[in-house]
Amino acid sequence: MAPTTVTERDARHLERAIELAATARGLTSPNPMVGAVIVKAGRVIGEGLHARAGEAHAERAALEACADDPAGSTLYVSLEPCCHQGRTPPCTDAIADAGIARVVVASDDPSPKAAGRGLGILRDEGIEVETVEGQLAVAARLLNQPFRKHARTGRPLVIFKSAMSLDGKVATRAGDSQWISCEASRARTHRWRSECDAVAVGIHTALIDDPLLTARVEGVARQPRRVVFDSEASLPLTSQLVRSAHEVPVMLVCSRAAKRTSTDGLRNAGVDVIVCTGQNEAARVDCALEELGGRGVQSMLLEGGPHLAGIFLEADEIDEARMFIAPIVVGGRGAKGAIEAEGVELIGQAPRALATDFERIDDDLLITARLREW
Ligand SMILES: NC(=O)c1ccc[n+]([C@@H]2O[C@H](COP(=O)([O-])OP(=O)(O)OC[C@H]3O[C@@H](n4cnc5c(N)ncnc54)[C@H](OP(=O)(O)O)[C@@H]3O)[C@@H](O)[C@H]2O)c1
Repeated sequence: MAPTTVTERDARHLERAIELAATARGLTSPNPMVGAVIVKAGRVIGEGLHARAGEAHAERAALEACADDPAGSTLYVSLEPCCHQGRTPPCTDAIADAGIARVVVASDDPSPKAAGRGLGILRDEGIEVETVEGQLAVAARLLNQPFRKHARTGRPLVIFKSAMSLDGKVATRAGDSQWISCEASRARTHRWRSECDAVAVGIHTALIDDPLLTARVEGVARQPRRVVFDSEASLPLTSQLVRSAHEVPVMLVCSRAAKRTSTDGLRNAGVDVIVCTGQNEAARVDCALEELGGRGVQSMLLEGGPHLAGIFLEADEIDEARMFIAPIVVGGRGAKGAIEAEGVELIGQAPRALATDFERIDDDLLITARLREW
């Protein structure tokens, strides 16, 4: 999209469109979050957002909410309007039919069926189309990182989450990790689980902690699919995950070396067993992400443990990190750090993330850092 200059007033309306979009966080997958504002003669006459997959797109919602005839007005929208027939008809049709004179767009839609086509159609209809760059464009793109990565690569966005002590340990030398972070930090993790399409752990974490991996916090609208990386398909049928597989889906990623009796037993218990090819764990992570993406998983909260996180890091598949640091000192020569990988020899070789947020949560510090932007 070739950017143009927008006025301060334009920027304010786009900001509002982005703000509206964000109110549907965790509710729109596999669709993006989108917000729209319609302004006529300097006055906002309609606002809308895409509230849930299957429901009206933001542009149509804003048109429906209009308090005045939208003919001749300006539409501000956080994402390029769609031009294809999906579960709902193309927004480009609705915009043209309503007689909108000008459309200001904050970010592109990288899906092959969009990628600028919507803007071209609007221009062909004689509508003035403007795009922005700078902070507003970045904010609009950051809103939809899972959607954007999935549209470009077919894989989920991977968000690595960990809770560590002041001395960088995520468990004691005996493997105990409950609980390093405070209750409010754990509630935050539950909120993130509900916002992601999937939550993943390695088999050792599943065996040691026997987690449920569901989102257990007030007001949660949906549960993530739960994924266990388990080469040998050794997750016990008595584990909390397997016992609850009929209520909230569980997927298990194993290698071809897994015994047929184990995979059959898990399948019979309701687990979706994904057999991944690849000579090593990194290659199998690669295969697993393709498979998960193909099953519609656009975002995955990777909750460890350190071994699995190390494989994801070496496969260059961590997009964002959210690290809680708690004011306790665990010590222990054998106690693990957040990521166990081969690592670099020189600090200068270490991958550097962009720290995007620091937040105090009771006694913990939460650092959010982005390794890649889509
Ligand atoms: N504080 C925290 O935030 C936190 C979070 C999570 C866990 N923990 C702690 O971390 C410890 C466990 O972590 P860990 O590093 O020992 O183990 P882990 O990362 O939970 O599991 C590692 C195992 O995952 C399997 N795996 C890895 N890649 C795979 C792939 N591509 N496909 C299939 N399976 C794959 C392998 O199992 P195979 O051996 O079968 O190949 C590997 O040994 C526990 O003490 C837990 O309490 C702490």
